[in-house]
Amino acid sequence: MTIQGITVALSKGRIMDSTLKILREAGIPVPEDIESSRKLILNTPNGEIDFILAKPVDVPTYVEYGVADLGIVGKDVLVEADRDLYELLDLGIGKCKMSVAGLPNTEPHTSMPRIASKYPRIATEYFRGRGQQVEVIFLNGSVELAPLIGLAERIVDVVETGRTLKENGLVVQEDILDISTRLVANRSSFRLKSGVIDEFVRLVRGVVEQKE
Ligand code: PRP
Ligand code: MG
Repeated sequence: MTIQGITVALSKGRIMDSTLKILREAGIPVPEDIESSRKLILNTPNGEIDFILAKPVDVPTYVEYGVADLGIVGKDVLVEADRDLYELLDLGIGKCKMSVAGLPNTEPHTSMPRIASKYPRIATEYFRGRGQQVEVIFLNGSVELAPLIGLAERIVDVVETGRTLKENGLVVQEDILDISTRLVANRSSFRLKSGVIDEFVRLVRGVVEQKE
């Protein structure tokens, strides 16, 4: 079965290169100029696949609403978005952790400690699950600033190499979740285009398993 007639939403940014590498190794047609172009929708020369290049946080939205049949995005974004999707495959790239971090040797000293995060749902659920009352403050990025300037005592954020924490004098206090890049599908596409999607998964899985 040839892969055709599907739209795939890719996450722009740090997982893009390794995602494209896997797709190409899997023999899935990928537009040659996808890295260099500023286009946000690209299709393959024979029109088999449309690729949407989206902000990672928007990928679950495109897939839930069915404007993309498939999406490739981090587990952090998926858990935070909590959309109604099928998760089909772990691509084994973009590996990192969601962690609680803060300044070393500090104990929470207020009854309602403030937690800064780009992941307010994950942060809220985590502390609720532990029966701890916290105030979660949403930030869009550079979350490591918050403890340094007294906005929050701790942060919930993604840690990959640990370099950002280290260079800002912060330490991991607790790990919340293992993260990696996932392939997700729209629920109706998964039924209506099952042949093509199964083949897409089979090809990608072949490459992912080789790398394990
Ligand atoms: C991410 C994340 C951490 C850092 C983790 O930030 O929010 O800050 O990378 O990587 P490390 O452990 O290898 O240092 P990003 O650079 O994506 O920017 P942002 O937080 O401003 O969105
Ligand atoms: Mg950051």
